[in-house]
Amino acid sequence: MAKSSQASWGGRFSAGPADLMLRFSESVSFDRRLAPFDIAGSKAHSAMLAHVGLITAKERDAIHAGLDTILAEITAGKFTWSTQLEDVHMNIEQALTKKVPAAAKLHTARSRNDQVATDMRLWFKWACAELQARLRATQHALLDLSTREGHVLIPGYTHLQRAQPVFLAHHLFAWLEMLERDHARFAAVAKHANWCPLGAGAIAGTTLPIDREFTAVQLGFVDEKGRPRVTQNSMDTVADRDLFLEFAAAGAMFGLHASRIAEDLILWSSTEFKFIELPDAFCTGSSLMPQKKNPDSCELLRGKSGRLAGNLSALVTMVKGLPLTYNRDLQEDKPPVFDTFDTVAICAEVLAGTLAGITVHPTRCAAAVADPALLATDLADYLVERGVPFREAHHAVGAVVKLAETQGKPLNQLATADVKKCHAGYGDDWATVFDLKRAMAKRRGTGMPGPAQIKKQTARWTKLLKEGAGS
Ligand code: ARG
Repeated sequence: MAKSSQASWGGRFSAGPADLMLRFSESVSFDRRLAPFDIAGSKAHSAMLAHVGLITAKERDAIHAGLDTILAEITAGKFTWSTQLEDVHMNIEQALTKKVPAAAKLHTARSRNDQVATDMRLWFKWACAELQARLRATQHALLDLSTREGHVLIPGYTHLQRAQPVFLAHHLFAWLEMLERDHARFAAVAKHANWCPLGAGAIAGTTLPIDREFTAVQLGFVDEKGRPRVTQNSMDTVADRDLFLEFAAAGAMFGLHASRIAEDLILWSSTEFKFIELPDAFCTGSSLMPQKKNPDSCELLRGKSGRLAGNLSALVTMVKGLPLTYNRDLQEDKPPVFDTFDTVAICAEVLAGTLAGITVHPTRCAAAVADPALLATDLADYLVERGVPFREAHHAVGAVVKLAETQGKPLNQLATADVKKCHAGYGDDWATVFDLKRAMAKRRGTGMPGPAQIKKQTARWTKLLKEGAGS
């Protein structure tokens, strides 16, 4: 291609890049989504250039008007993107140059290295807020499900063996906690993004009298008191990709959570459990077996967690061992984070949709939770309350469990005389332990599944989600 096409760096070249090289090195196919942030950055930068007298107010206004037109064209889908111009930055700058002569001054005291770092920091702030809002919506769906069906008792599992009874609400609240930590992680990434890179230049700043703080304020890179936050080392500024990894890590963690939630839902909806019915709208049938209803949304949530982990892994591998500062390898930083954004966004939405349509089979849950053996630990606690050391109590309950097994009876159906023979601590009231309602009521400490705590947690989440709307 003609060298003149590479107006931004073609000066020292006698030939343009090979077509193959252009296809290989272009990033506009994926970084064009940075356009609104790139334009915001250019507007702030040119405002600063005018502020310090490097361009005139007239030139600034012309640049701003041109950039506004370009943004409108992009939004309307009327902008022609060219891979020959490599990336989003050069596409926009070249288009501006065609409209406004002053565009030739826009790149004063700026490099694509600090420009792309700025675009991405602005994007991360936006992306985190978007994902936080979606996580909140998923949490709302969970809270709604809990309000509808949370009163149903189900077995809680360890080792996928029935362990102890819990209200469904308690299990759902566990998921709420997981998503709350994800929400906090994205909030932290947004906070870490809040430093303005512009002015770092390619690596060593500029000799021109720029005002970095001015630009930072224009772009909202400010602390809670409105004071500018600018990055403190120009080399670190253009080399640093920590945010990319943090964002991908937050996404991967959400993926793990979504996957574990999905796995519980798959189990619960299976014929073997049948605790719940998944909504038809999020399931599919089999092309061969007419009776099948497959939990595809959950399986895909589980599957997509793999690519979220993969995106993190790709970034870690790509950054490792890179010498300071910018290396073109770093252009590969964007596809994984964009994919993480898209994947987390749709997964959160699909999870919310799936949760919203779930109904519970109360009789199946009641049958599963009816086994008195689930309260064997409560029987040990009963003995402890009567002065028996826990280790001894554990043993004494074990003896009763064994007896029930030999007699082929449920634990609570044994003759009191037989039970008393197992340990002197057992009294006539030993079987009151198996009253489920009573057993649940006794679990009243913070974080426990008793009804008083469920009420408290319901109030806590209702308040938190109402206050946290949009945060
Ligand atoms: N498209 C490039 C990227 O995303 C922009 C920075 C280019 N800088 C350079 N020195 N070639 O990394």
